[in-house]
Amino acid sequence: MKKICALVLGLLGAMNPLFAQRSNVSATPPMGWNSWNHFAEKVTEADVRAAADALVSSGMRDAGYVYVNIDDTWEGKRDAQGVIHTNDKFPDMKGLADYVHSKGLKLGIYSSPGPSTCAGYEGSYGHEDEDARTYAAWGIDYLKYDQCSFGDIIEQQAGGDQDKAASIQRAAYEKMHQAIMKAGRPMVYSFCQYGLYAVWQWGPDAGANLWRTTGDISDHWDRMSLIGFDQDGLEKFAGPGHWNDPDMLEIGNGGMTRSEYEVHMSLWAMLSAPLLAGNDLSKMTPETKSILMNRDVIAVDQDPLGHQAKRLWVEGPMEIWGKDLSGGRRVIAYFNRGEAAFDFDPRLSILAPLHGVRFKDLWSGNTIVLNEKSRLLVPRHGVLLLRQQ
Ligand code: GAL
Repeated sequence: MKKICALVLGLLGAMNPLFAQRSNVSATPPMGWNSWNHFAEKVTEADVRAAADALVSSGMRDAGYVYVNIDDTWEGKRDAQGVIHTNDKFPDMKGLADYVHSKGLKLGIYSSPGPSTCAGYEGSYGHEDEDARTYAAWGIDYLKYDQCSFGDIIEQQAGGDQDKAASIQRAAYEKMHQAIMKAGRPMVYSFCQYGLYAVWQWGPDAGANLWRTTGDISDHWDRMSLIGFDQDGLEKFAGPGHWNDPDMLEIGNGGMTRSEYEVHMSLWAMLSAPLLAGNDLSKMTPETKSILMNRDVIAVDQDPLGHQAKRLWVEGPMEIWGKDLSGGRRVIAYFNRGEAAFDFDPRLSILAPLHGVRFKDLWSGNTIVLNEKSRLLVPRHGVLLLRQQ
């Protein structure tokens, strides 16, 4: 199946170079780390180097986490030629890229189509070509492009006309895509405009490898679960080279229980979402490592078919989601969003071909065979994630 997928992607790539650039850099959802959720505006080069070191020493790199993404606040001023420079927190971006690359990792950066970023730093407005060239010269492998102040420009130019607003925004994101293509270095291109104007419908054609589908996540059960479970219905827009992005991970930041973080990781894997850790990697507990590095769950996310899961059944806070994997296997998630443990009937009527099939419980490692008499106890804010063996 892997070979067939590679062949199809190759053929599409030969016909359309834009498609080739897109699929080659994100055939499966990007995995790595991003500075924002933990370090926010305080991030420094030392933090990024420490994250790169920890990706290697913890084993995360070998589990697939290869992007080291610097979010907002690295930007300095432009010189007389319009070339962007870093600020004092990032004295040597090329040196940092070389360091990250020497560890078998890739470096990501952040900008905005507006004149300033969300944290008030220099954006790329009117300097797209120069910035893409600068990123390429530094050795950047990933760009997150965040709408921020461009929202004001859209408002000024479009007034209340939503169609006009959508096309102004799309043009701005396409402009940077063209600039990246001209700069000639393959980069993952990540749209961050919070799911406005149904970005999933046009993002891939505008050059996106991934697009945020929502506003910001936070390290709280309510926000994480609202965002994650709200992704149902977007599954038809995801696939190799182009992914829905429900935002970065909060696992290890301390605001949720173990069981809630297992839901977070399971749900993102079911959704074929990017897995960008957002914690301080240099200070991880064994529990955090075991959640982020559960190889079986990562394999669900990284399955080469790239099928995003869909909701199969819901009753109050109980939900069953299913995802097809390569090799004809399925993975089923029993989610309990409720405040008390729940004894699930496995609902074999909707999973009919899976009657009597052996499953692996991907969090406990146990084998489970489902039949009409099975009961599946799922804790409060918990999940039972079962992959066909
Ligand atoms: C937000 C974005 C966050 C982070 C932040 C930086 O708009 O959604 O993920 O990038 O800006 O200022």
